Amino acid sequence: MSKLAIHGGSPVREKPFTKWPKATTELKDAIIGTVENENWGVGSEAISSFENEFSNFHDSKFCISTSSGTTALWVALKSAGVKSGDEVIIPPYTFIATASAVLMANAVPIFVDIDPKTCNIDPDKIEEAITDKTKVIMPVHITGNPAQMSKILDISKKYGISVIEDAAQAHGAEWEGTKVGALGLGGIFSFQTSKNMSAGEGGAIISNDQEFIDKCFSYHNCGRTTNGAFYDHQLLGGNFRLNAIAASMLLAQLGTLESEMQIRDKNRKKLDQVISQIDGITINGKYKETTRESNHLYLIRYDSNLFNDVPRAKFFSAMQAEGIYTYAGYKPLYREELFSQGSDDYSWLEEYDYQNIDMPHTQRLADKESVWIKQNHLLGNDEDIQDIIDAFEKVTTCIKNEPELFV
Ligand SMILES: Cc1ncc(COP(=O)(O)O)c(C=O)c1O
Repeated sequence: MSKLAIHGGSPVREKPFTKWPKATTELKDAIIGTVENENWGVGSEAISSFENEFSNFHDSKFCISTSSGTTALWVALKSAGVKSGDEVIIPPYTFIATASAVLMANAVPIFVDIDPKTCNIDPDKIEEAITDKTKVIMPVHITGNPAQMSKILDISKKYGISVIEDAAQAHGAEWEGTKVGALGLGGIFSFQTSKNMSAGEGGAIISNDQEFIDKCFSYHNCGRTTNGAFYDHQLLGGNFRLNAIAASMLLAQLGTLESEMQIRDKNRKKLDQVISQIDGITINGKYKETTRESNHLYLIRYDSNLFNDVPRAKFFSAMQAEGIYTYAGYKPLYREELFSQGSDDYSWLEEYDYQNIDMPHTQRLADKESVWIKQNHLLGNDEDIQDIIDAFEKVTTCIKNEPELFV
């Protein structure tokens, strides 16, 4: 067995992985074309073309582009009718914006534990969280792996509660052959730097509902109305618009997304095949209705019980020394400091207790088991993927055979 890099052996890999985001020639030409020939903001052809093409690509009728995924979430929640004191059901295993956008809408995040099979909100626990204040259910397609949308949409119909999908990580992901995002009332995407489509920052809302999308237009555009006057402001919106240069970068990436998705699909399959053979490592599952994942992050589980009780942190250090950056990712959102600040800032949260929430599936995943690999690793060539596999095999074999090296 070769010596671990953490103990002075040669690392499996010393090269960096595929650079992300990619400054392709198409992207640079698109930026220059927009800068030289177009409005850089309102009225730009690049923005309307991007909105049309993104809604077509994502199997929806309408799209409003926004300055970020977070602003898209706020706009979508307000447009779904969320008012002060309303409750919005979300999973606790997600990026903070899923919860903070709810708070920014003066509403209350209600956490529902995850389904350990997919790490998405557990659809069978949603109904017990519904109250007469519930306004929206907001599943997150975490890592680009769709939540159980059929069950969630059934609940939405049964109770008359809207569904807004947080598809920030799910560009191109599909549920029963339809791209996610407009399966319920609407959904949002992020184009922040690390996402599978990136303009540095940016976001989008898609929907098939004209009335909802008109409201989104207004909330994201200073309260203006779709065909109204420039200085007519009908509700409390903001300037949450995407700029034209970002739109042109995203348009260029719509041309490369499918080929990149195919690379991610292939690499994901190879990694799953080999890594799932390691006793103690579990591959994240998907629902049978999922026809495509976006493979944004590679999320798997490490069970220290099957690795001589060597904690996950030691596994990470050894993998990182081998040149493969693995890390833990999110903590349960209800443990974030912002939920322990008391209700000075958030008086509408007074009657809610976030300190004593106990969600075993989220805690087990976040505290002990999750292992993340960044999305750019999934864009690598065969040699890159083999390096990831070799590092997993080297480190896990060593933990099994020589646990004393990890004390
Ligand atoms: C699940 C999820 N929701 C919302 C967001 C917010 O997007 P942004 O960073 O573009 O505001 C992100 C991304 O960072 C995310 O991963």
